[in-house]
Formats: sequence, C-alpha cells, structure tokens
Amino acid sequence: MIKPGITTMEIDTFAEKFMRDHGATPEQKGYHGYPFATCASVNDVICHGFPSKEMVLKDGDIVTIDMVVNLEGWLADSAWSYAVGTLEPQAQKLLDVTKESLYKGIEQAVIGNRIGDISHAIQKYAEAEGFSVVRDFVGHGIGSKMHEEPQVPHYGPAGRGTRLKEGMVITIEPMLNVGKYHAKLDDDGWTARTVDGSLSAQYEHTLAITADGPLLITDQS
Ligand code: MF3
Ligand code: CO
Repeated sequence: MIKPGITTMEIDTFAEKFMRDHGATPEQKGYHGYPFATCASVNDVICHGFPSKEMVLKDGDIVTIDMVVNLEGWLADSAWSYAVGTLEPQAQKLLDVTKESLYKGIEQAVIGNRIGDISHAIQKYAEAEGFSVVRDFVGHGIGSKMHEEPQVPHYGPAGRGTRLKEGMVITIEPMLNVGKYHAKLDDDGWTARTVDGSLSAQYEHTLAITADGPLLITDQS
C-alpha cells in the first residue's frame, strides 16, 4: 500500500482490519491511552507518530510503521521503515544501515551473551556508518505484556547487562538518525522527533533466544 498519495490513516485502518480478520487484536490501541493500532512515523519523527488522514505520503518520504499484534494473549512487536517512491541517496543509506544494525544486534542474541553485546554491536556499526543511535527508546522483553524485563538499549558497552538464556523473548528495535541522537516530544505527548530535524529510521523484530540461535517471531519471509 505504501506509495505516494496514500495517508498513514489508510495504512492504520488496513492493519487493524487485517489483524481482526485473522483473530488478533491491535495491542497498541488503548495502551497507556495510545489511540491507534499502528504508529506511523514520517521523516524526522523517530517513533510513536499518530496515523492521520492529513498525512499524505509523498515521493522521497520515509515512513516507519510499528505495531504490536496480540494473538490468543501472546504478543509480537515489529516496526519497519519504508521508502515512499524513490529516496535521496542519504535517506536510502539510512534505511539500509538501520536495517543492517538490527541484524548486527540479532547476531549477538545467543545463549550466554549479555544484553550489552547486542547494544554494542548496533552502536558500533551505526556510528561507523556515520549515523547516531537514539537513546530515549529501547527494546524490551515481551510476552503476555508489551513491555517486560529486560530493557534492550541500542548503545552501550559490550559484556554488561542481563545474560541471555534459552526461552527469553525480546525485541531489538534500533532507531538511527542522520544528525544528532537527541529526541523531543510533540505537544500530543507521543510523537518523538529529532531535535535537529534530521531524518530517522527504525527496524524492529521480536525474537526468541533458542539453542539453535535467535528465532525471529516477526519474520516476514
Ligand atoms: N511498539 C512500540 C515498542 O516498540 C510501542 C509503541 S507505544 C504504543 O515498544 F503506545 F503505541 F503502544
Ligand atoms: Co518494541
């Protein structure tokens, strides 16, 4: 659906109907008063943007769609950034590096490693590619509740934090900015933007720690 001319509310309406048609519910709707099934974050919005009938996507935009699906009481959380039409080279690089940084983190999600090994792998790669890592929002444990222990920062030293054990389920969801990492909230109390107005992107998977390595719960293939 994502192409120039569509509104972020049309995407939200589709996603909510798709979930309900498949016997699932949109966990974000009503979560601490959040009003929608999805978050739709365009360009300088880092995360938690409101879908809107007024937000008509145009060629060259970046839009991140984030949602949490509840199926029979169990939750999965995923966010994905999309190019609307064709992007400027720097914006396309931001998407490519942000997605790759997620997979650098996932590689570290193995039994015996620590949360900090995930964090460090993401930060090291992202900063080497010239982007900054958002500090104010982190990944998290997930299960029958959206946000469980432990927190999963996307920056910080390796070798620290909770040790990963078989059966743990977490999200990894790096947000990278073209400019500085600092974030500010709009007056709606939700929409988080880059302070310097630079572009931001995010990719998020829910995954389980297993004896065979990380198992993607939100795999799209
Ligand atoms: N899906 C988000 C996360 O990664 C949570 C969005 S906040 C909500 O944790 F209020 F929209 F649910
Ligand atoms: Co999440």
